[in-house]
Amino acid sequence: MLLVTSFKGIQMLILGINGSPRKLGNTDILLEHALLGAKSAGAETNRINLGELKYAPCLSCDKQRKDGVCIVKDDMDKVYADIDKADGIIVASPVYFGSVSAQLKMMIDRFQCYWSAKYIHKTINPGKAKYGAFICAEASNNESFFENSRSVVKNLFVTLDIKYKEELLCRGLENKGEVSNNKEYLLQAEKLGAELVKEKYRL
Ligand SMILES: Cc1cc2nc3c(=O)[nH]c(=O)nc-3n(C[C@H](O)[C@H](O)[C@H](O)COP(=O)(O)O)c2cc1C
Repeated sequence: MLLVTSFKGIQMLILGINGSPRKLGNTDILLEHALLGAKSAGAETNRINLGELKYAPCLSCDKQRKDGVCIVKDDMDKVYADIDKADGIIVASPVYFGSVSAQLKMMIDRFQCYWSAKYIHKTINPGKAKYGAFICAEASNNESFFENSRSVVKNLFVTLDIKYKEELLCRGLENKGEVSNNKEYLLQAEKLGAELVKEKYRL
């Protein structure tokens, strides 16, 4: 377990969003270590496993509410609420065909309502500052897959006023849970979580 400087007493909530449907897979484990790192730096943590939620892809209905929340009622309600509460967000995804997982992309598309409310209808103002990190796992060693994935996540972060602060891009991970044998990646994930907690003091 990584030893980090303790920031006990900080009222900071870090939300981890797991974009992989594979339980105890590489993304799942890396995210768990990042949340452990955040915890040991004094934060509270929360986690969403997108693979366990039931939600529709964006229907482009253009009927968003003024507060930017989608009118479609499904498990995305929980995602909107949890993101709203969090100070820091760690988005984690495997690379699927050169980009993020479908589960994560579907979640991201459901923020189109927020995008419209913010940029077109101008009915929402930026909320409290949030800090973001991205964890990504791929089987190959392909930088352009990470670039694609990072760009999708950054696009979401810009829309939600989340400052992109940390990233961990893990190569050569194919089999379920094999990252457990890679101490360096696990340590880096813990560091990422802890660094995100410290971000509050760096502005
Ligand atoms: C549908 C699918 C598509 C994938 N596409 C790629 C890919 O384009 N490039 C790559 O390097 N690995 C690809 N992989 C491998 C995963 O990125 C890799 O196994 C990763 O460690 C899975 O993370 P997980 O265990 O959290 O699910 C793919 C896996 C699946 C299931």
